[in-house]
Amino acid sequence: MVSYKELGLVNTAIKGGYAIPAFNFNNMEQLQAIIKASAETKSPVILQVSKGARNYANQTLLRYMAQGAVEYAKELGWEHPQICLHLDHGDSFELCKSCVDFGFSSVMIDASSLPYEENIALTKKVVDYAHQYDVTVEAELGVLAGVEDEVSSAVSHYTKPEEVVDFATRTGCDSLAISIGTSHGAYKFTPEQCTRDPKTGKLVPPPLAFDVLDAIMEQLPGFPIVLHGSSSVPQEYVDMINQYGGKLPDAVGIPEEQLRKAAKSAVCKINIDSDSRLAFTAAVRKVFAEKPGEFDPRKYCGPARDLMEELYKHKIINVLGSDGKAE
Ligand code: G3H
Ligand code: 13P
Ligand code: ZN
Repeated sequence: MVSYKELGLVNTAIKGGYAIPAFNFNNMEQLQAIIKASAETKSPVILQVSKGARNYANQTLLRYMAQGAVEYAKELGWEHPQICLHLDHGDSFELCKSCVDFGFSSVMIDASSLPYEENIALTKKVVDYAHQYDVTVEAELGVLAGVEDEVSSAVSHYTKPEEVVDFATRTGCDSLAISIGTSHGAYKFTPEQCTRDPKTGKLVPPPLAFDVLDAIMEQLPGFPIVLHGSSSVPQEYVDMINQYGGKLPDAVGIPEEQLRKAAKSAVCKINIDSDSRLAFTAAVRKVFAEKPGEFDPRKYCGPARDLMEELYKHKIINVLGSDGKAE
């Protein structure tokens, strides 16, 4: 058993008024960019590891990378880094337990695809275990459209506000991921669900269900809410990818003004993965297209890292408002 406290990590005790960024990572360049952006802006940050990332990069390596990230942050002049290592979309008690035992400071148990009572039972089992070690637990109620690791759903089912008090009370979870119209990936809405801007021809997505969020906040005042699927799919990256040989037609995300609004509410944690993937891919494609003779990975991963760092800083300062919250 390794306690995350020995690794210099913190759990996700979260406050309102702004949202903490939860950035997924599975490679060194992403981690460097996340830490540089967080250290420079003094923003608390959640490093998220999905089950897929764990399989790709190896859990042991990822944990030591997170431990190294704390030291790197200090080297960058961040005296008291607030860095959390979080399991994203854990789908079993065994996976969550393994992460708790291995130095993660927070875990998500995503039993949202199970019937309500089974979701409660599994979530409570994880909470009872994790809380013994001061590890915080995120749960999910409602179903997001798209793919959540191996679970996929074509349509989203909004969280039912009438269930949240019962769910939070009976499970003892520390935060709750809800479904109000976001979804994972770079295609959050079909063209049929959007309108088109007559000037640019670009898709304009429908608004999130803020009425559902309001009703949830009314039921659970001050309770930390989490938004998954919150990439905004910046058009500049999509255009760059398409310009340099990629093919992402009609990719569309959540407009940043809606995320800004959410971050000021009880939404305390906002998950972003796809935007970082897009930035990475755009930068790499540009180098490959402009310098076909380049074969040193540092020459294309370096620019990708720079672009991701710029993206993370932008999210922290201009969207989530978490800058300066971890001085
Ligand atoms: O929830 C989805 C995250 O973006 C993680 O994606 O399972 O492909 O690593 P992944
Ligand atoms: P995006 O695909 O919108 O980046 O969402 C990531 C996420 O929710 C990870 O859990
Ligand atoms: Zn997610």
